[in-house]
Amino acid sequence: MSTLGKVIKCKAAIAWEAGKPFSIEEVEVAPPKNHEIRVKIAATGVCHTDAHAVNPCFKAGLFPVILGHEGAGIVESTGPGVTKFKPGDKVIPLYMPQCGNCKFCLSPKTNLCERISKIKTPISDQDLMPDGTSRFTCKGKQIYHFMGTSTFSEYTVVAETSLAKIDAAAPLDKVCLIGCGFSTGYGAAINTAKVEPGSICVVFGLGGVGLSAVMGCKAAGASRILGIDINTNKFALAKELGATDCLNPQDFKKPIQEVITELTNGGVDFAIECIGNIDVMKAATECTSVGWGSCTLVGVPAGGESVPVSPMKLIMGRKINATFFGGWKSVECVPKLVADYMAKKFSLDALVTYTLPFDKLNEAFDLMHEGKSIRTVLIF
Ligand code: APR
Ligand code: ZN
Repeated sequence: MSTLGKVIKCKAAIAWEAGKPFSIEEVEVAPPKNHEIRVKIAATGVCHTDAHAVNPCFKAGLFPVILGHEGAGIVESTGPGVTKFKPGDKVIPLYMPQCGNCKFCLSPKTNLCERISKIKTPISDQDLMPDGTSRFTCKGKQIYHFMGTSTFSEYTVVAETSLAKIDAAAPLDKVCLIGCGFSTGYGAAINTAKVEPGSICVVFGLGGVGLSAVMGCKAAGASRILGIDINTNKFALAKELGATDCLNPQDFKKPIQEVITELTNGGVDFAIECIGNIDVMKAATECTSVGWGSCTLVGVPAGGESVPVSPMKLIMGRKINATFFGGWKSVECVPKLVADYMAKKFSLDALVTYTLPFDKLNEAFDLMHEGKSIRTVLIF
């Protein structure tokens, strides 16, 4: 029976309030309106940003909400005015839109799009469709969208500017990671830091984002890539993906920035912070070389903390950058990243520690919090 133009009842994970487990419920998903697309999600990763959104320590988001922003699926139907997608297309929803017309989209200097830049925090962003309404209801209540993607639902509705069409042969249970974690870390090295061939790099934090940054440094031709983590279980995979040395800060009496500076003859060319820890961000800045050292911030810190950096460190030629979605212009770059994965230019498979049925969503969050998974991918 065709679902075209009809409300679809399906499974979704609802966060009814902050600090509580998700509940798997039956939701109603309305058909797509003008310039919207309804997507059947096949696979979704679980990311820290989803955890942040329900963490009472962070700025409160809107509830009830369907989270998820690292998914991949297949177009079920398209609303009026949609020309670039048709039912059956394989797609990745994009939390960083690319409208193509705003001053940011028209500039090569940024991957931000006006559709996101008007919002103060990415975490409570895009919680309704562009027309200000929701396509989700559950038990008679309106449910908020999340980051314009809401991939923790078997069906979701996204704006045309928040969707990338990808290779029909792509395995959705792997390329879903291109929707967030992989692209963020890999792009931080390639687009934001602009790692140079022969350079010395250090990546702080060897989770999914940090390992992707390691792959980015390697792809950019770095000659030495130091990986830093307090969990030594991460070292074997980091070395497999390109790290040349791995260090645990807890093994040293001196601050890790001093250790790195000594090991690298005065500091690294590029440091990338993939944890979201203010002290580590400071260390990452301080271990870069005088003259040209560059530090790229990727991790998102809890609360509204600031990074304490001495202006003298910057006056001596160091730079600080930060990245949002790895600097990729989403609609045009995500299909290319999928093509690069298909051409085996990098590995996503190594980042997928567990693949579980969607119903095990809460378990996937536990695995992430316990540091037992790089990424868990949930399958519908
Ligand atoms: N020093 C060194 N390593 C640390 C420290 C520390 N003080 N604290 C945590 N780590 C390590 C953890 O052991 C873990 O291996 O950092 C890694 C972080 O990895 P994940 O928790 O898997 O996080 P990831 O998904 O990679 O995201 C990293 O980027 O997008 C943001 O919100 C996200 O802030 C998060 C960050
Ligand atoms: Zn994410």
